[in-house]
Amino acid sequence: MEDSQIVEQTSDSVTLYVANDHSTSVKILKYGATVISWKVKGKEQLFLSEGAKTDGSKPVRGGIPLVFPVFGKCEQKPEFAKLPQHGFARNSTWDFLGLVDEHTAQFALSEEDANPEIYSKWGSGDNKFCLFFNVKLDEKTLTTSIEVENCNTEKPFEFNWLFHTYLRTPDIEDTLVSNLTNEVCYDQLLKQHYEEKSPALQFHQEIDRIYKSIPKDRKIQVLYLGKAIHTIVRDENLPDVVVWNPWIEKADTMSDFQPKDAYKQMVCIEAGKVAEFVKLEKHQKWKASQVLAIDEDIHLQSQIF
Ligand code: BG6
Repeated sequence: MEDSQIVEQTSDSVTLYVANDHSTSVKILKYGATVISWKVKGKEQLFLSEGAKTDGSKPVRGGIPLVFPVFGKCEQKPEFAKLPQHGFARNSTWDFLGLVDEHTAQFALSEEDANPEIYSKWGSGDNKFCLFFNVKLDEKTLTTSIEVENCNTEKPFEFNWLFHTYLRTPDIEDTLVSNLTNEVCYDQLLKQHYEEKSPALQFHQEIDRIYKSIPKDRKIQVLYLGKAIHTIVRDENLPDVVVWNPWIEKADTMSDFQPKDAYKQMVCIEAGKVAEFVKLEKHQKWKASQVLAIDEDIHLQSQIF
């Protein structure tokens, strides 16, 4: 492959490179339009389980699965009650539309190519929609953007959106997540709301929390031994931040989580709109994006003293 080549396509994946630097790349599986690798100067930034299925038999355990139209399970709303956890976008094979520019690959999903068995469980199984997903690779950043369009001719629909990003860290017990202090979270394990009081999140057991309505100028940072190793920047349409690490027992229950102690090398920081649903009227569009960056200065943006 020539150094100047910026895209490589196989039947099931697309890889983008920075021109003249093939050590910086992003690989996207057409199944789920799941980003499964992001390397900067040869260093992998994302966590991908060694047991992850990449053959389309189940959602990928790692990388950046896309969550639509529901986050988790939602029994209380009839149109989502029958859908499995996290919807169908991550279980459907997306179309690769090509490059939008020399840094950006574009994928699309509509009701025609959505996983029919799961899609049919959304509402009355006849919602028409269009998703456009862009993945933009720069030297030190990866930008993922989504546009959702309601293509129904008569009715609105509602949805959640989430970038379920699995970030790599050398050792979770020496990892902190910053800038969520004093924010309200819903703890999915305790089933309780409370205000976060830690100056930075630490990890010594399973954690599964939805931090709600976090201002868009708040950068969420993953710190390791005093350095910012990941910075997540979200736009205003991604107000919620889910923080998840399965720890020992939960990792044990997931057959595709391998090796079992790999929970030490990951933390999920998931930017989304999940605490409330977005309602889209017919023909309306909604857009959102996040930027993942490396090598940033530490930005202390919450009152920790
Ligand atoms: C997170 C949820 O977003 O995804 C967790 O907050 C969940 O509750 C995790 O366990 C993984 O979900 P799944 O369906 O990929 O096993």
